[in-house]
Amino acid sequence: MKVLLIGANGQVGQAFLNDKKQHIIVHAYDHASLDVTNYALLEKTFLEKSPDLVLNTSAYTNVDKAEKEKEQAFKVNCTGPENLAKLCAKANTPLIHLSTDYVFSGEKKESYLETDETYPINYYGYTKREGERAIQNSHKQHLILRVSAVFSAIKINFVKTLLRLAKEHSSLSVVNNQITCPTAALDIAKALHQIIQAIFLGETPWGIYHFCSAEAVSWYNFAKTIFEAAKLPIEITATDHYPCLAKRPAFSVLNCKKIHDHFSLTQPLWRTSLPSIINTLLRDT
Ligand SMILES: NC(=O)c1ccc[n+]([C@@H]2O[C@H](COP(=O)([O-])OP(=O)(O)OC[C@H]3O[C@@H](n4cnc5c(N)ncnc54)[C@H](OP(=O)(O)O)[C@@H]3O)[C@@H](O)[C@H]2O)c1
Repeated sequence: MKVLLIGANGQVGQAFLNDKKQHIIVHAYDHASLDVTNYALLEKTFLEKSPDLVLNTSAYTNVDKAEKEKEQAFKVNCTGPENLAKLCAKANTPLIHLSTDYVFSGEKKESYLETDETYPINYYGYTKREGERAIQNSHKQHLILRVSAVFSAIKINFVKTLLRLAKEHSSLSVVNNQITCPTAALDIAKALHQIIQAIFLGETPWGIYHFCSAEAVSWYNFAKTIFEAAKLPIEITATDHYPCLAKRPAFSVLNCKKIHDHFSLTQPLWRTSLPSIINTLLRDT
């Protein structure tokens, strides 16, 4: 089976490529080789490759910058997915798209269900929610996977940023009033492979699904665990305020019962996935 992968150089795109499966031929395109906002080029690529499934891991993911670069963020996170959905609809091809916990306000006191009302509190979250809606309105055969706080040894993410800051600072302050579920890109890639397998076995599980690690944690406690695992003696203080452009949801925890029921996917443990990523980062930097 042929999978057209868009955004191949990102955290999830790279993890998907690294988690190779023999029965899948992946036609992978990074930003430079295929811009998701370029409909004509997407159409040409569709005709050339005639994929059995499209996986969109491309996105504008800089949450603070999105407050300023609104037009670009909207194009990548909404117009791009809409382009893909329209082409997939024409070709009768399933589309898997990645979305985010940031479509929610974070004001709920328990984990968010797929059926909960979305209410993004920053522009990035708004563009991702609009991207979801554009897909839903254009193509029935879609599966939108909302994930949270992705980390890996590449690109920009919390784990990598903390290890970089540890080289320059002996103490750091980290927010303690935002709860999330950090999720390794490789765990998401494995889930994607399982979902793709199910689709090719004839399941038609279209709709929105949540997938994230099992243990919710504050960024402060996540930072503590990272430095303990890295054996770095950094002093961290908990703070309620960290100056940044975009507001963040306070309680950003996704309920993953639906994906478990449909695909038998269990939630990974970030504590288990973290050490190998830290080792790679310490070795490579
Ligand atoms: N990162 C997180 O913490 C997080 C949390 C929740 C949900 N998500 C969602 O999960 C998905 C994967 O995230 P990720 O962490 O893997 O993101 P990432 O590492 O930032 O990768 C996104 C990729 O998209 C590419 N891209 C940007 N604009 C593009 C365009 N116009 N056309 C084609 N490609 C373009 C980027 O290339 P360049 O870098 O070269 O521009 C980058 O390689 C996204 O849908 C994201 O919204 C991420």
